[in-house]
Amino acid sequence: MSDIAAPPAKLLIVDDESAQMAALCDTLEHEGYVTTGFTSAKEALATLRTQKFDLLLTDLMMPEMDGITLLRAAQQVDGNLVGIVMTGHGAIDTAVEAMKVGALDYILKPFKLSAILPVLARALSVRWLRMENEELQQRVGERTAALEAANKDLQAANKELESFSYSVSHDLRAPLRAIDGFSKILVADHAPQLSAEAQKMLGTVSANARRMGQLIDDLLAFSRLSHRPISKQRVKAAALVQQVLDELHREREGRQVEVRVEPLPDCMGDPSLLKQVWVNLLSNAFKFTRRRERALIEIGCQEQQDEKVYVVRDNGAGFDMAYVGKLFGVFQRLHRSDEFEGTGAGLAIVQRIIQRHGGRIWVEAALDQGATFYFALPP
Ligand SMILES: Nc1ncnc2c1ncn2[C@@H]1O[C@H](COP(=O)(O)OP(=O)(O)OP(=O)(O)O)[C@@H](O)[C@H]1O
Ligand SMILES: [Mg+2]
Repeated sequence: MSDIAAPPAKLLIVDDESAQMAALCDTLEHEGYVTTGFTSAKEALATLRTQKFDLLLTDLMMPEMDGITLLRAAQQVDGNLVGIVMTGHGAIDTAVEAMKVGALDYILKPFKLSAILPVLARALSVRWLRMENEELQQRVGERTAALEAANKDLQAANKELESFSYSVSHDLRAPLRAIDGFSKILVADHAPQLSAEAQKMLGTVSANARRMGQLIDDLLAFSRLSHRPISKQRVKAAALVQQVLDELHREREGRQVEVRVEPLPDCMGDPSLLKQVWVNLLSNAFKFTRRRERALIEIGCQEQQDEKVYVVRDNGAGFDMAYVGKLFGVFQRLHRSDEFEGTGAGLAIVQRIIQRHGGRIWVEAALDQGATFYFALPP
């Protein structure tokens, strides 16, 4: 609540006995409330339609309209209005009845000021809370709507960007093919006329054209991921990992690599996309342990209540966690390509695939101390 002093609460007081009503109004005015009194419930209700009140204090037994009926009608006019009923000792039943239709409290007549003041204060604080709650709910609603709109805009912009990058990379292929093709022809047909230096330069042109081709292919593979629908089915993770390890056997040739595979539970996902995830993570693990005399790659799974967290750990080059924010961006690399080759698309693709499965991916690493990749998939 704000620190600014709140204006005095406005009380609507209804009692068919005019002397009592007037006395109550006077006393409560004296206590700092703004009061408006009526002996007629109907008149009180009519006033309520044109003026705001914080609290209705009404007698229960009234000839023209009883307090319960008045309370019901009043709450229809203003849902936040709090009501307190006053009743004689003999009529506690009706007071209970009034509480059922929404009166917050009741006061037994005859009453002392000291009895009525705390009841009023409590009822008013309930009203402030209700109003504050309503305002908060409204604000949350507005925020949510604004966020949803922003999200929609973002999605549209994202889509546009994706199709832009798709068509650009697609269109770059043709001129690149021409560069590569003509430099090959030059070497094949005109090598004798070219100096050694010119031949070397042509070699560099070719190598760069090939690298650019690789970049374009990776970019295309990445943007295709957003268009491709994914079809989830049960995937035998253990068999999939074994298949990928078999396919990557060349990475181990002439090296000492120990691969430990713990039992892996099945998961739900798109088999060919999940294969891509394992290929990219494991080929990184093989690649970045290349300088280790004894490389160790551990593959496991931590099953949690609502997700399965697969883990790939290696004892390779690792990296400084200060740069972890870059890792999953397209073409972002933390190692030089003369140290470890690659274009830097692998992890961006992995992340996109995991996200499209409704999962998460994260990593822990330290420079020269290996890296551990985790990805979680929903059940
Ligand atoms: N297991 C790892 N250990 C240490 N660094 C890693 C590891 N995996 C990824 N990285 C770092 O993250 C960068 C991005 O990885 P990513 O797989 O996207 O690209 P890449 O392997 O360099 O190239 P590509 O996968 O496209 O052939 C790597 O260049 C490397 O710096
Ligand atoms: Mg890679």
